[in-house]
Amino acid sequence: MPEIGPVLVPAGEIQRKVRELGERITRDYAGQNLLLVGILRGAFVVLSDLIRQIEIPCEVDFMEVSSYGAGTTSSGVVRILKDLEEDISGRHVLIVEDIIDTGLTLSYLRRSLLARKPASLEICALLSKPARRRVELDVKYLGFEIPDEFVVGYGLDYAGCYRNLPDICILKPEVFGGAAS
Ligand code: IMP
Ligand code: MG
Repeated sequence: MPEIGPVLVPAGEIQRKVRELGERITRDYAGQNLLLVGILRGAFVVLSDLIRQIEIPCEVDFMEVSSYGAGTTSSGVVRILKDLEEDISGRHVLIVEDIIDTGLTLSYLRRSLLARKPASLEICALLSKPARRRVELDVKYLGFEIPDEFVVGYGLDYAGCYRNLPDICILKPEVFGGAAS
């Protein structure tokens, strides 16, 4: 695929990290019943790998959210396209996200889920771009900090494509017409 630039995180490294995160989650939630909340659509790949590295009883639910506007930046206005099926009050909830950029999406989601009174609420994200953060966000389980590049693969898309790449790759800036910001 000519629009795909260099590999930033190879598949093997992702698998190692996901295993490590799964082990930590297994330890931290031992004796508790965990509900993983995957944020569609990007998180479906990491969630499906992560859940198989968790060795305690757990359930899965999904939310789909979208920031208004197109392109490669988040507008900060978040719309819930699909809500949870489960009632999360009194449950131990772990949000699983593919990437945190400005942090606006998760900051909104966190507030909105906290209002439903879960027993606990934490965040697991495979990737984070600290240089672009606009709100403070406590991420308990983080895979990799990456530079300010637009990345695709392993669930992450540009205009709906490239989610199927096994590695996390940099998208060539000419594809979306300039820098990631
Ligand atoms: P935030 O609200 O700015 O943190 O945006 C997070 C969302 O933006 C993620 O869930 C992704 O859907 C999307 N996003 C941010 N950076 C990238 C990227 O480099 N590649 C693909 N999607 C991204
Ligand atoms: Mg997303």
